[in-house]
Amino acid sequence: MRNKILCADCIEALNNINEPFVDLVFADPPFNIGYEYDKYYDKVKSKNYIAWTKEWMTACKKALKSNGSFYIAIGDDYAANVKIIADEIGLYLRNWIIWHYTFGQQTKNKFARSHTHIFYFVCDKEDFTFNDWALRVPSDRQLIYNDKRANPKGKMPDDVWTEFSRVCGTFNEREGWHPCQMPENLLKRVVSASSNPGDLVLDPFSGSGTTAAAAVQLGRDYLGIEISADYVKKSTARLRGLSRKKTDVKKQVEEIRRLLIDMSIPARKILADDNLLEIFGNQLAIRLNGQGRLDNEQLVSALGELTV
Ligand SMILES: C[S@@+](CC[C@H](N)C(=O)[O-])C[C@H]1O[C@@H](n2cnc3c(N)ncnc32)[C@H](O)[C@@H]1O
Repeated sequence: MRNKILCADCIEALNNINEPFVDLVFADPPFNIGYEYDKYYDKVKSKNYIAWTKEWMTACKKALKSNGSFYIAIGDDYAANVKIIADEIGLYLRNWIIWHYTFGQQTKNKFARSHTHIFYFVCDKEDFTFNDWALRVPSDRQLIYNDKRANPKGKMPDDVWTEFSRVCGTFNEREGWHPCQMPENLLKRVVSASSNPGDLVLDPFSGSGTTAAAAVQLGRDYLGIEISADYVKKSTARLRGLSRKKTDVKKQVEEIRRLLIDMSIPARKILADDNLLEIFGNQLAIRLNGQGRLDNEQLVSALGELTV
């Protein structure tokens, strides 16, 4: 079962599997806050929601290989329950990430909610994939202080992620037919960190197919499970448009975009500062991991195209 979006209940589908076969799970379940989905009622009794959460987490864990990683996005109301269930079923927490997003929903009489919890668990504390080099960003020591002691490989991004906006109605990547599409770049960070090319990435609540879209573009295999036949049809069409065989140039441009987002520095600012340009070029070379270093002229031209 690879490279398809399966129309099924994820608990039933995964409980039918005998052997662990998945390298990475990214799960973004309904949060039980009354969203309108095609085939799922998102306001059930709290007790039932917690029991259901334990069922699908257990089913996913069964599918995960012993060196696999398991990310779960969840709202405030049930974040504590997810952590307790994870402890009970033998998952180890590596990071409790806060995704702080812009374009949150406005409120009248309390602070506006602007974050989602993303848990990063592994099955084995010692044995897991984590490609730090694919994520590193330049440190302040490099960017601001020009400090010779700075690690030339840069630093790891924080566990509060502020780089990814919610996917709003006007955004190009917005599919429009799903109520809570996740940003593709957020999923690319997760997939780059915790899987390798050729690995299998599972999303048990596939929705608009964002996890699969990130996996395809990064050369990973995917399996999505989605209960709505309509979402399966539409997300399969979304994936059809994405090529897994990319030219080096496309890969480089995509990595430039990701690095710009991760560094939160606009391309035009980098172009205007030789020091920043050099740091950006070095960081990009690390992320491209030997797959073609751009010379300064190529870098300036690629960044220039992104400023228009
Ligand atoms: C929060 S959305 C996921 C959005 C997704 N991350 C994206 O970027 O598009 C949750 C999805 O889970 C689906 N779903 C609900 N119960 C399910 C189940 N038991 N098995 C599979 N999918 C289910 C819903 O139809 C919905 O599309």
